Amino acid sequence: MVPPSAGSTLMTLCLLGSSALAAIVNYDFNISWVTAQPDGFSRPTIGINGEWPIPQITANVGDRVIINVVNGLGNQTTSLHFHGLYMNGTPHMDGPVSVTQCAIPPGGSFVYDFHINQPGTYWYHSHDSGQYPDGLRGALIVKDPDSPYKDQYDEELVLTLSDWYHDQMPGQLARFISYANPTGAEPVPKSALMNDTQNLDIKVEPGKTYMFRIINMGAFAGQYLWFEGHTMKIVEVDGIYTEAAEADMIYLTAAQRYSVLITTKDDASSNFAIVGSMDQDLFDAVPADLNPNVTGWLVYSDSAPRPTPALVDEFEPFDDFTLAPYDKLPLYTDPDYSFELRVEMNNLGDGANYAWFNNITYVRPKVNTLYTALTSGNLATNPAIYGDHTNPFVLEKDQVVEIVLDNMDPGKHPFHLHGHAFQTVARSEEEAGDYMYNETLPAYPMRRDTVMVRPNGNLVLRFKADNPGIWLFHCHIEWHVASGLIATIVERPLDLQNTLSLAGSPYASPNSSALAIPTSHIEACTKQDISIAGNAAGNQDDLLDLRGQNAPPAPLPEGFTAKGIVAMTFSIVAALLGMAVIGWYGNLDRKDVK
Ligand code: C2O
Repeated sequence: MVPPSAGSTLMTLCLLGSSALAAIVNYDFNISWVTAQPDGFSRPTIGINGEWPIPQITANVGDRVIINVVNGLGNQTTSLHFHGLYMNGTPHMDGPVSVTQCAIPPGGSFVYDFHINQPGTYWYHSHDSGQYPDGLRGALIVKDPDSPYKDQYDEELVLTLSDWYHDQMPGQLARFISYANPTGAEPVPKSALMNDTQNLDIKVEPGKTYMFRIINMGAFAGQYLWFEGHTMKIVEVDGIYTEAAEADMIYLTAAQRYSVLITTKDDASSNFAIVGSMDQDLFDAVPADLNPNVTGWLVYSDSAPRPTPALVDEFEPFDDFTLAPYDKLPLYTDPDYSFELRVEMNNLGDGANYAWFNNITYVRPKVNTLYTALTSGNLATNPAIYGDHTNPFVLEKDQVVEIVLDNMDPGKHPFHLHGHAFQTVARSEEEAGDYMYNETLPAYPMRRDTVMVRPNGNLVLRFKADNPGIWLFHCHIEWHVASGLIATIVERPLDLQNTLSLAGSPYASPNSSALAIPTSHIEACTKQDISIAGNAAGNQDDLLDLRGQNAPPAPLPEGFTAKGIVAMTFSIVAALLGMAVIGWYGNLDRKDVK
């Protein structure tokens, strides 16, 4: 059931804490290429310690986790992000490249070291150059001896869902962001996986209650999930306990998690199908040979047949907006800072399709945004220093922040915020247009870290600026991360200067008790000649001078449309535009493994 953790060194050291036993959980991860065939097709896959599926990270609330990473890929940089963890006090351990760290170069080592003070179901994945769909994603489970539901189940199990491709990401990304794909059609997965396999047996005993921790760690596809003949009781979403809610079918966008309680039948004579079904609304064209479903079984009896799942006429998943948090945290009222993000997809002068928040498509800054914040003194509160192409929003202490997201795109998008679980305050139906500020808001809105906006619909999210750090807000469809659907939340940069230090550099914090950024983090930058100081352009002298910053391709010439590009004769422009695309992608610095 649980992905094997063989190969990882797990050492647990118990320390006597004030009230509970806190431990140090150590992992040594050598990230390298292996061969895997989860759907029968054999391909190079990114594994850890020679294994794939990669190990599950497991800790208890209160534990300190230390992960020593070695990048053994040879041909690619990498990083790890711990999706959903707040990283309170250690925002430099969050993992996104060019945001809180430099990429770990081939052959490089890197230490992630953080405390986990939140229970629940999470996952970890590469946050570098669209890499995780090549295999570098796994479950991260934080057990809770004080769970309000602990007396209601006998055993817990992990169930991961994902989509799966046969080609490697670098080549697929180059084709996706290309003049040859002007409409931005996302590559369609080849298959769906359950616990990184297909036709999965889950052995169960009659008359017991199991807590399934369900994670969609796919790159693109949301999945519908149901257990034939059994009802789910939802008790957690994205690390937040909910009031128990019954559901026959749930929908998990890429990156969402649910914990559900399932009570088995008293009769152990037959087995029941578990079905994950990829949401084909997301796919521009559905290949005739695509099987969007993955099947597993609750196996009561090894000798009984595994039934073929029944067809469903219509997908009617549980509406997650009806959930309420178990802690009944009330709605944050009267936001101190509200901003709109308008989602659009559009073409640039290279003919490729990009994704935009407020007419800005994200481009990595030359200096990690966190290091810019740490090296810019009082100018750290000025969004301008973070660059013209990172969509920075600077937050002050304890502000109630509201994001109004208006989706101008006809697709569904799962939006994720690092460092927080936001209140999901409002979500429209499809085609509702911009948010109208005219509805009654829930008294105890659900909180989670990833939520779906509907096609041409809107979404309102609120959270409190109680966690200094640099936190990305982005669509969790990995194709849209690559095409720039990212904003940067710069939360309390002056507090960061007081609590984190680029120790040993001229920019060490004046506060001698500030936490030092580890040398492995600094070395990841210096080995690749990446500056650890200055604005988004790497300018340390005049922080308001952004000349030389990374920028997207030039806009399309006036009057040019995506349709025009389709109609354009490729032969005339292919050579020129091809060079532009290669130049743009050259900074990914990676190639497929043969
Ligand atoms: Cu699952 Cu930006 O992350």
